[in-house]
Amino acid sequence: MSQKTMVAVTRRLPPACEARLAASYEVRLGDDARVYTPEVLAAHAAGAAAVIVTPSEAVNAAAIAALPASIKVISTNSVGFEHIDLAAARARGFRVGNTPDVLTEATADVALLLMLAATRRASEGDRMVREDKWTGLRPTLFLGIQVTGRKLGIVGMGRIGAAFAKRAQACGMTVLYHNRKRVADEAGATYVARLEDLLAQSDVLSLHCPLSPETKGLLNVARIAQLPDGAVVINTARGGLIEDDALIAALQSGKLYAAGLDVYAGEPNIDARYRTLKNVFLLPHVGSGTIETRTAMGMLAIDNLEAVLEGREPPHALV
Ligand code: DGY
Repeated sequence: MSQKTMVAVTRRLPPACEARLAASYEVRLGDDARVYTPEVLAAHAAGAAAVIVTPSEAVNAAAIAALPASIKVISTNSVGFEHIDLAAARARGFRVGNTPDVLTEATADVALLLMLAATRRASEGDRMVREDKWTGLRPTLFLGIQVTGRKLGIVGMGRIGAAFAKRAQACGMTVLYHNRKRVADEAGATYVARLEDLLAQSDVLSLHCPLSPETKGLLNVARIAQLPDGAVVINTARGGLIEDDALIAALQSGKLYAAGLDVYAGEPNIDARYRTLKNVFLLPHVGSGTIETRTAMGMLAIDNLEAVLEGREPPHALV
């Protein structure tokens, strides 16, 4: 009797993805609440030929060193890959794949949701209704700010930035962007070569660049000071792009009107001060969280590992 190859998965996947894996492999599924230290990840992957991870796992040099020699491929169920030490994976001969493209629209939708929720004080309104404190329509109740006619500055004009630009234009916004270089698909937005010039004009600033040593802490005290007074900050990319102390101080002082955040440094252990601020709208990293998108991402993650296990080139190889 032939034994199936084992695939370890750190988190639960949408049902169609788990069913596809189960049809071809012996599958060791992880527990959604588990914290994967290098030792826990190595134990979970014992005997496996492939491991599917997420950005919640720090697949750093120590974790890669601890993985069993049976591993051939690390497949991340994400487009972002800052949680994986690619050089360490390459050095051990592991292939690494990610899941680009399929989450563009879902993540751009959440950027729009965060922008509207932050500018229209959605968390305050939701709380009032839930707590049964609503006393009726009042002309001055939770007045927000209108995005129509305002300027949106996008930092990082990749696929998600461009998709959000289109949505913002449909809301009547003028869109500007800053990128390392001008892009071919500008999605009707205007290129601004210097980040400081973009900041100075952005009524709403939305981050869409990858987290790297160069972009870590990009939105700091000095850059927030360059934003117009009363600006709004949106982040669906990575929490590490923002210095929390700087953002929180600006939200507390009123320098910023509001923020809408889906991602956080050190998530899920976010800076507790965010919970106390009325002018932030907080989501738990669900930018790509639709059934369609998370299923498509899981399928791509499986395509990548299956290709490696069958001796083919993975469709989305990072290493
Ligand atoms: C990604 O794919 O990198 C997202 O942040 C997770 O959905």
